[in-house]
Amino acid sequence: MPLRDFSLPAEAPIGLYDSGVGGLSVWQAVRAELPAERLIYVADTAHVPYGEKSRHAVVARAEVLGEYFRGEGVKAIVVPCNTATAAAITQLRERHPGIPVIGIEPAVKPAARLSRSGRIGVLATTGTLASPRFRQLVAREAETAEVMLRPCPEWVMLVERGELHGSSTRRAVAEVLEPLLAARADVLVLGCTHFPFLRKVLRQVAGPDIPILETGPAVAKQLRRQLEAHGTLHAGPAAASGHRFLASGDPTELSRVAGLILGQAVAAEALPTIYR
Ligand code: DGL
Repeated sequence: MPLRDFSLPAEAPIGLYDSGVGGLSVWQAVRAELPAERLIYVADTAHVPYGEKSRHAVVARAEVLGEYFRGEGVKAIVVPCNTATAAAITQLRERHPGIPVIGIEPAVKPAARLSRSGRIGVLATTGTLASPRFRQLVAREAETAEVMLRPCPEWVMLVERGELHGSSTRRAVAEVLEPLLAARADVLVLGCTHFPFLRKVLRQVAGPDIPILETGPAVAKQLRRQLEAHGTLHAGPAAASGHRFLASGDPTELSRVAGLILGQAVAAEALPTIYR
């Protein structure tokens, strides 16, 4: 029986947040899957990187940003951040039981199925890889595989600065990937939403045959299913405008990097002070 919340109109926006621009890789997938929806994206750039923060600090930000979104009347919250999902999705769901709260997790299950060598490389943040939620995922879905974990905090900051190409980015990627490939990892999992923006360089270094898995499209599909179940899916014409971008740090920098990444003009706003 679908759970319908008639107090929220289908025209209400959807809130998404990440520590910075990484979640825009999921934003793009949501735009493609649900073109009629209006999206409010918060880049929590005053607190990036989440991956090097304590679980307590990441949960505290989830609580503050959840309150911000509810004040904006959102009909769903999406957390396109593996680190924040691992640390805080349970608390967010408990705090907002009336609306869907959608998280993301690394594509360990499909990777374990695809691998022939039985060795998969997972690239993520320190926080994600150390979390009980991630450990449980590996134990459940990749019991027989050898899962090689690589924290890549430097990659997060390269993407935050908009350095998606170039020799220093290539070097940073090669430093992590080459030993993994030499150890016969034959599937790579992008367990951080920043990393799909390095896909060109990742592909150059990994070569043409290694699957590189990301999770944005699966999150967008899950969001669609949840909106349908809650009776709040917006089936109207594509929203040509009305998407908002906010930064807890410098909005000018978010406009620059998000504009570069999305290939469109982005007019970012400052997140109200009490939520920073
Ligand atoms: N993009 C985030 C993730 O998916 C977090 C990166 C960070 O702030 O360390 O894990």
